[in-house]
Amino acid sequence: MSGEDSAAPLADQLTRAGHLTPAWRDAFARVDRARFLPDRVWIRGDDGYHPVDRTAEPARWGALAYDDQALVTHVEDVHAAADGGETARVPCSSASMPRVVALMLDTLDVADGMSVLEIGTGTGYNAALLSERLGDRHVVSVEVDPRIADAARANLKSTGYAPTVVTGDGTLGSPAHAPYDRTIVTCALHTVPYALVEQTVPGGVIVLPWGTGLYNGVLLRLTRAGDGTASGPVVGDSAFMWNRGETPHRDVMATVRTRPPATTPKRATTGLDPRSVFGDEDAAFTAGLLVPDCRYSVGHGPGGEFTLWLADHSTGSWASVDHTPGADTHPLHQHGPRALWSEVEAAYAWWQRAGSPVRTRYGLTVTPAGQHLWLDAPEHTLPPHP
Ligand SMILES: C[S@@+](CC[C@H](N)C(=O)[O-])C[C@H]1O[C@@H](n2cnc3c(N)ncnc32)[C@H](O)[C@@H]1O
Repeated sequence: MSGEDSAAPLADQLTRAGHLTPAWRDAFARVDRARFLPDRVWIRGDDGYHPVDRTAEPARWGALAYDDQALVTHVEDVHAAADGGETARVPCSSASMPRVVALMLDTLDVADGMSVLEIGTGTGYNAALLSERLGDRHVVSVEVDPRIADAARANLKSTGYAPTVVTGDGTLGSPAHAPYDRTIVTCALHTVPYALVEQTVPGGVIVLPWGTGLYNGVLLRLTRAGDGTASGPVVGDSAFMWNRGETPHRDVMATVRTRPPATTPKRATTGLDPRSVFGDEDAAFTAGLLVPDCRYSVGHGPGGEFTLWLADHSTGSWASVDHTPGADTHPLHQHGPRALWSEVEAAYAWWQRAGSPVRTRYGLTVTPAGQHLWLDAPEHTLPPHP
């Protein structure tokens, strides 16, 4: 509806690359992504995010609008006050990568007449695609940020779509319009709110990006059962910005700097190369499952040497592992109540003993009492017994 001539080339490009199925081809060819973008988008460089303005660089802005890449649409300046440190420009909304939008919509498996709840309206582009495919009255989208919700409403109106856009915390769903046949979340969750399960019909599907502080993230496809639980496997990867209520503490080094170091490091060396864990996506994902509330950061030196930093802000625990090219052992420091690197080593050893499972062998079950992770089948609950 919003611009067939402009939108069709992106749909063709995604189709040729194998990212767009016939079920969604027409919607992508009709909804013009550029009309959902603000005049200023943000591109990541080596030293942070830089604006690309439509008026100053119309050709570049236009090329980005129709390219298969995520575009940050809103940033906020976050001042690390506790650190006395610098102000960082942090993305708080984006237009997701078109191939990821296509994958998630395909995974949602909609059919005519179905109703859909979206969490994270952002630009409104995904809500427009759903409206194009299912009709406005079947689509409800919730956005937590009032400025972004208003911009999405304006984008949708000017392109001829009228789904219901609710300003509010999407982790509560939108009970006024429930139940939904399908629920799609477009911000990364760590804890799946039961409200989303409750508001999805039995047999309904919930597609959501899910992450940990060590790995953000994977795509989960849960099916709501008649007993009120929802369960399903990891079906792929998807890196999304966090649900506002669950954003992990960003600055690993702030934790390291603001807490007094322990007088005696808990151990002096490790034989486990950090790249064995963090250079392997399945090992890193598993470490994220088994070492909760932990973030990492890497500082590189000019000659291939690096330091891996781990931090749990809530307890002030941190660890560092230094790697020098060619070395078999790595100097290690662990401070605070948690021995974070030892936890990572234990998680890695468990992952190896379990046969180095790939991430798609894991899954999640959500019940009114909470959620649990599993390997291969819901009864094989994680964390494993030691
Ligand atoms: C990647 S963007 C969503 C992209 C969007 N679906 C589109 O088509 O442009 C993530 C959005 O989720 C929103 N968000 C984060 N936490 C939320 C929450 N708890 N409830 C609703 N929206 C949330 C952010 O403000 C941001 O706009």
